[in-house]
Amino acid sequence: MEQHGDDHIIRIRGLGKKFGPHTVLDSLDLDIVRGETLVIIGRSGCGKSVLLKLITGLVKPDAGEIMFEGEDMTGFARKKLFEMRMRFGMLFQGSALFDSLSVGENVALPLRKHSKMTDEEICRTACEKLELVGLTDVYDQFPAEMSGGMKKRIGLARAVVMDPNVVLYDEPTTGLDPIMADVINELIRALQRELEITSVVVTHDIKSAYHVGDRIAMLHEGRIIYSGTPDEVRRTDNPVLRQFVEGKAEGPIKPI
Ligand SMILES: Nc1ncnc2c1ncn2[C@@H]1O[C@H](COP(=O)(O)OP(=O)(O)OP(=O)(O)O)[C@@H](O)[C@H]1O
Ligand SMILES: [Mg+2]
Repeated sequence: MEQHGDDHIIRIRGLGKKFGPHTVLDSLDLDIVRGETLVIIGRSGCGKSVLLKLITGLVKPDAGEIMFEGEDMTGFARKKLFEMRMRFGMLFQGSALFDSLSVGENVALPLRKHSKMTDEEICRTACEKLELVGLTDVYDQFPAEMSGGMKKRIGLARAVVMDPNVVLYDEPTTGLDPIMADVINELIRALQRELEITSVVVTHDIKSAYHVGDRIAMLHEGRIIYSGTPDEVRRTDNPVLRQFVEGKAEGPIKPI
């Protein structure tokens, strides 16, 4: 289906990123439709996490534009970038919780930093978000006492605590058992529905990609080489995508 320009909350054009001599992203183009869940798949090391960090402005590109609501974020001064970042939530690969802070305070952290809420409002909001991900009575516990699945859920609660427009999930199901992975996938869909957010999910778990994605895009050799609905991906004869989806060693993608 052809989308109109206005439906794109984010438009990326010609995005380039190198680390030293190593080119990670090379003239990458990608459109993200308002309200959709876009899944980005690709091999380990292909640049998925770097792409998410570029989108949130945590990393600066060498080339290209990232248009958010029609404005090029790459040209934003620090203050504007900081304000804009509040409209994004991010679940980091590995959850990135602070061990020295309680579960509740981890979730509350963005509010403490960026909002003018009172202590009571902050605690109440953090509790509500924890409930939204199915966690009650854990506010005063510590991340070290939590299982991997619980940590992901706490990270999820923190990602949505500021009521962002866009949430970026980096490998939300990696390292979880299939049932917990399903719980997390259901949560991502529920959060998208209930909070009306645009979601970008990075994964190399193709089962999760089919489950949560309205659309799946594949990152390969620095570019988005394909994007389509889960059904289109299932039927595609694109050899790179087929090899990835079927998990074969033989094909155009060479193991490194
Ligand atoms: N800060 C950095 N400095 C130097 N190189 C980096 C930096 N961040 C990422 N890279 C390199 O960029 C490439 C892409 O990394 P990235 O973390 O985006 O991969 P990925 O697709 O998320 O992989 P995975 O699926 O294993 O998480 C890798 O070769 C990595 O070593
Ligand atoms: Mg990564």
